[in-house]
Amino acid sequence: MTLSASHPLMDGRTTHSPLISAYRGQKPSHRPVWFMRQAGRSLPEYRKLREGIAMLDSCLRPDLAAEITLQPVRRHNVDAGIFFSDIVIPLKLAGVDVDIVPGVGPVLANPVRSAADVRALPKLDDQALDPIREAVAITVAELGATPLIGFAGAPFTVAAYMVEGRPSRDHLGPRTMMHSDPETWATLAEWAADASGAFLRAQIEAGASAGQLFDSWAGSLSLADYTNHVAPSSARALDHVRDLGVPLVHFGTGTSELLPAMLEVGVDVMGVDYRLPLDEANRRLGGKVPLQGNIDPALLNAPWEVLEAHVREVLAAGDSAPAHVVNLGHGVPPDTDPEILTRVVELIHSVPVV
Ligand code: CP3
Repeated sequence: MTLSASHPLMDGRTTHSPLISAYRGQKPSHRPVWFMRQAGRSLPEYRKLREGIAMLDSCLRPDLAAEITLQPVRRHNVDAGIFFSDIVIPLKLAGVDVDIVPGVGPVLANPVRSAADVRALPKLDDQALDPIREAVAITVAELGATPLIGFAGAPFTVAAYMVEGRPSRDHLGPRTMMHSDPETWATLAEWAADASGAFLRAQIEAGASAGQLFDSWAGSLSLADYTNHVAPSSARALDHVRDLGVPLVHFGTGTSELLPAMLEVGVDVMGVDYRLPLDEANRRLGGKVPLQGNIDPALLNAPWEVLEAHVREVLAAGDSAPAHVVNLGHGVPPDTDPEILTRVVELIHSVPVV
């Protein structure tokens, strides 16, 4: 299977955009920038639109999901949209009782802890993804030459919520399970891989020009656990979309020691969190892949001079890599002044490419 002739990468709309050029290892005329969590609570227009509508319901209303995806693109002039959805949407569409509790995060009514729990997981029906396809189609029609990035949660991060039943700091539940009952863990991780893979494929087929796998909590794993118990299912999630040929990005936090292993899962671009300078990340990755990152979100709240100096440092370090897509080292904090983000985009676009 390949992309349809009317896909933005095939009909030329996004093919030579700065984002896609950089993801493919070329140096574009300006540095592309987007922000993880650019859609969301930092924007007053988002808070207004979401009034009285539950988070996951807003993701499943195509008109709303499209509008929320477009808001930060219009406001900040970023070089990409990131599809407004959530890593637990495939669970919800499969029929798992999951909700996003405001101020808490994903919560499951019935955490998945035993072999029987894993066996009882419902299969995600492909048709259930239709609202996602519809939202993506509306979004890319509006975005024109600006590429849309689709995404999915990596199996470890998704399964971490499924086992714990809610957000946790150390992810002890899934980390215990992978050792005490490796078969059940592997079956759960494969289930999550297939759900995330189908979710990502739906977005790309409907018009997303790139895909990002979020393994936000992979940093709680040792390299050995990552390699033995997590990497295979992350590769399996990506196997769902490799034939489509769009650039694939892999991101997690606290992953300084995992970067080469995360690259080996088979991606084109590595996301780097704010803990490791990009020149050092580039060295660890052998100087061969485009990097995405890694402005420290904490500095969005610092005086402008401090933030500007930090952004310039990130750009300089990023120049060591084959190509650089500027982003934060993790998501936009909800209390960020949106005008600061717009100013950061202007600054990045104004710095000449060397
Ligand atoms: O702009 C964007 O980045 C697009 C939308 C997006 C959301 N979630 C919307 C959202 C994306 C890419 C995600 C992915 C996601 N969801 C991840 C991976 C990225 C990361 O930040 O590490 C993770 C770990 C989740 C799980 C999740 N969903 C968490 C931890 C939370 C926050 C809980 C809270 O309230 O602080 C959510 C809810 C969520 N997902 C919100 C948004 C905008 C906030 C809910 C709201 O606005 O009411």
